[in-house]
Amino acid sequence: MKREEAADELRRRAEGRLGEACKAEGPLREEDGDRRLVHELQVHQIELEMQNEELQRARDAAEEALALYTELYDFAPVGYLTLGPDGTILRLNLAGARLLRAERTRLVGRRLGLFVAEPDRLVLAAFLGKVFGGKALEACEVSVNAGDAGPRVVSLEASTLEGGQACRAVMIDITDRRHAEWERLAVERRLLQSQKLESLGVLAGGIAHVFNNLLLVIQGNADLTLSELPLDSPLRESLLGITQASNRAAALCAHMLTYSGRGRFFMKPLDLSKLVADLVQLLNLSIPKKAKLHLNLEQGLPPMLGDLGQVSQAIMNLAINAAEAIGQEGGEITVTTGFRECSSADLSEVCPEWDLTPGTFLTLSVSDTGSGMDAATRKRIFEPFFTTRFIGRGLGLSAVLGIVHAHKGALTVESEPGRGTTFRVLFPASEAAGRVDGATEAAEEVDPLRVFTILLVDDDEAVLAVGARMLEKQEFRVLTAADGREAVEIYRQNRDEIDMVLLDLTMPRMDGVEALRELRRLNPKVRVILVSGYTEEDVASRLAEGETFGFLPKPYSSAELRGCLAVALKGLGR
Ligand SMILES: Nc1ncnc2c1ncn2[C@@H]1O[C@H](COP(=O)(O)OP(=O)(O)OP(=O)(O)O)[C@@H](O)[C@H]1O
Ligand SMILES: [Mg+2]
Repeated sequence: MKREEAADELRRRAEGRLGEACKAEGPLREEDGDRRLVHELQVHQIELEMQNEELQRARDAAEEALALYTELYDFAPVGYLTLGPDGTILRLNLAGARLLRAERTRLVGRRLGLFVAEPDRLVLAAFLGKVFGGKALEACEVSVNAGDAGPRVVSLEASTLEGGQACRAVMIDITDRRHAEWERLAVERRLLQSQKLESLGVLAGGIAHVFNNLLLVIQGNADLTLSELPLDSPLRESLLGITQASNRAAALCAHMLTYSGRGRFFMKPLDLSKLVADLVQLLNLSIPKKAKLHLNLEQGLPPMLGDLGQVSQAIMNLAINAAEAIGQEGGEITVTTGFRECSSADLSEVCPEWDLTPGTFLTLSVSDTGSGMDAATRKRIFEPFFTTRFIGRGLGLSAVLGIVHAHKGALTVESEPGRGTTFRVLFPASEAAGRVDGATEAAEEVDPLRVFTILLVDDDEAVLAVGARMLEKQEFRVLTAADGREAVEIYRQNRDEIDMVLLDLTMPRMDGVEALRELRRLNPKVRVILVSGYTEEDVASRLAEGETFGFLPKPYSSAELRGCLAVALKGLGR
């Protein structure tokens, strides 16, 4: 409404209000000079009163709007700051003051840079430079020292106000978001690492399996030829060279299998503290005098189901590494055992990438006061063949990881250069571990002069051939089968004659585990020795329950084959 129109409207309303009051005096006439003046004055007075009322209403509305604005400004969930070109705080809301953990009155007039962590001050200066340099909307992230709350990460977004002498910045605390992101990235990185190790494990296990078959053929043929050669034959030395080399290759395969978690495991109840105590002598022999060994072993630990040899190897590897890290300087190695309850939250904190079952865990830590490791080394220590040592092979920790993995445990490392290293292992306690193995069968009485018949089952032709020759040389009668199905068929037809089945575990068509099940269906008392270069852990634990008559790791020599059969056939008269 235009000014004149507004004035007219005001007058109309004022006259209206006055009209009510002077109705009784009758209408104004030309000659009523004084009355007209009085009337004009009264209209003006009413106009003034009405303007006053309007002003009052406008002031109330303005006050209300200011209160609302102040409330919104102060209690906004983010900090609002008005900053000068050098970062001086000209105004800020309560949320901003809270973020900087200081009274608002003490912050106004001070520079924001004073609250920013030292390394980020340059970031803030560059940010302000850009904002006042005319950039439309600038953003940055800096760390601020927020009193007792410790450092907080904040994001700043700012643009200049009219005139360009100040800018308005929005400050948001993104510490929790950043931590969650860092955490997620760390988990992703660990997951990637474990996937890498897992695929290396599969590769190592696969290679070892193939090599064990080849080594059995090499070793077996060399053995057989050696046994047929006269003692003074010049060829003996060459053949011995072959067996020695293949023995070394077999040891390497065993390492690779351990790393892949597919090593040979004979699970039985173990007392972790006793196991460490029993190792002391060996440990003291393996570590130099300069390294002092302390034991901190808790007594009365719950049992765990584990492979004595493998768990011992893991402890030895960790202790030897500790001793090597201590070197000639001298220092201390402490081996500690205990147990604790672990919830799934605890476990995912320790080892997020392994899917472990919550419950009671035995704890083993090996710490040293040695050289420690930097982050780059720490990242790679579990990779096979990673070593920083002149004489190291880089297989020690890979094997420890494989062993811990196969025991469904967890492994963590804490280390800083110059501050020593602590490896912590968790092994699940086992309620079933205390169970006594199944009773052994009563020995059958048989004719000691009887010729035993062995069913040899393997999918590798060369292995079958050399194995059969070894057995025949030891005066066994041999039947052979190239896979599980054939083995079951042959057993069905000759079950009364077959005294022992030597059953390979990894075969096409029907593998060893399934064949074993089928054979048991035909005869619950079937005598089976499992043969493999690549043992699945569940089969190994079944072994521990005494359901089979032994386990023959590949590659085996004639003597090992004879030894294994001698034990297994004991009850039958050999
Ligand atoms: N306690 C420790 N302190 C410092 N560094 C360690 C420690 N344990 C392991 N490392 C580092 O991890 C690397 C890999 O260890 P790992 O046991 O796998 O191999 P290695 O000791 O080098 O050789 P080996 O196969 O003989 O055990 C080592 O070369 C070393 O750099
Ligand atoms: Mg080592």
